[in-house]
Amino acid sequence: MQLPTPQHIAAIVPYPPGKPMDELEREYGVTNAIKLASNENAWGPSPKAVAAIGAMLHTLHRYPDGSSYYLTEAVARWIGASPEEIVLGNGSNEVIEFLVKAFVGTGDAVITSHPSFLMYQKFVQVRGGSNVVVPLKAMHHDLEAIAAAVTDRTRLIFIDNPNNPTGTLIDRKTFADFLATLPQSVIVVVDEAYVDFVEPSERIDIMASIRHPEGIPAVVSLRTFSKAFGLAGLRVGFGVMHRDVASLLHRVRQPFNINLVAQAGALAALDDTDHYNTTLRGTAEGRAWLSRAMTELGCRPYPSYTNFFLIDVGGDATRLYEAMLYKGVIVRSMKAYGYPECIRITVGTAEENQRFVTALGDCLRDLGYGRR
Ligand SMILES: Cc1ncc(COP(=O)(O)O)c(C=O)c1O
Repeated sequence: MQLPTPQHIAAIVPYPPGKPMDELEREYGVTNAIKLASNENAWGPSPKAVAAIGAMLHTLHRYPDGSSYYLTEAVARWIGASPEEIVLGNGSNEVIEFLVKAFVGTGDAVITSHPSFLMYQKFVQVRGGSNVVVPLKAMHHDLEAIAAAVTDRTRLIFIDNPNNPTGTLIDRKTFADFLATLPQSVIVVVDEAYVDFVEPSERIDIMASIRHPEGIPAVVSLRTFSKAFGLAGLRVGFGVMHRDVASLLHRVRQPFNINLVAQAGALAALDDTDHYNTTLRGTAEGRAWLSRAMTELGCRPYPSYTNFFLIDVGGDATRLYEAMLYKGVIVRSMKAYGYPECIRITVGTAEENQRFVTALGDCLRDLGYGRR
């Protein structure tokens, strides 16, 4: 059909839709499949969030509070910021979209790394902006090359820290040195979707960069309720930024972008330190156990600061992904990310991790993948 679409929209490759679990189970003849493909929380949602959502259902005929007053206040308290420095989104994805809407016009440039989270580039394409993509260096963001790629058309730099899919982390000094080399005309967006899983002593001091921008560019931190809080399906994330940046983002957002149950659920989850700590503890234990078990099987898991692992399996990752599906274990092939012999898996519960390792051992043997 002839449609009046701009070329930069027609050129976008749609996000490949995943199949629902039920469909996969039917197709592969398995039951009780486990999904370790999307870096979700294996311990489920916070029970306090579930209860708070239930209690709100009878008010669904009302519009939500357009300012998300209570949730914004609670997030600000938790982060150590003021409410004017917080912008909530329908997932942190939406805050990425706000940033691109607010700062990127046709022909403006945005720097991202490859491989990293794919949504940054997508929103830039929608805007008709230009993606400048810098390859990772030894699995880490190549900050020197990123700084060298900045021009007077550069508006934003996106850095996911830890990086998805490699799980690597930038240290404090490296980040501070990087900021000092950049012009103040750009905005540095640090996507900290997985920072909850990083020991506080190892995190960069993001609030100091946001609060004290003298001599450095504006910095934005992105956080999410989708990972450590177990609320991926609810769609709540937020950005922490200078109030002047926040004020611009509020201009491009819809008034009711955080729905009624999402506000109630996220607020209750923030208060559920038991669930949060169980997730962090379980993830750390699972990470150590899986790392050992996968290495014993002859795979090479890359060290991870997150709730997932990138693993070199020593053979075609897509074939392994298919073989694992027949065992009822859903992992992600990293072929499309440029790692044809790697899969990415999410750390699960102890039982899920055991099932994954057993299935992996069987599949590696069946496929004849070499030991490393
Ligand atoms: C690096 C990174 N940022 C953001 C997100 C998306 O977060 P949200 O669910 O808050 O939109 C993900 C999800 O996997 C991610 O890996």
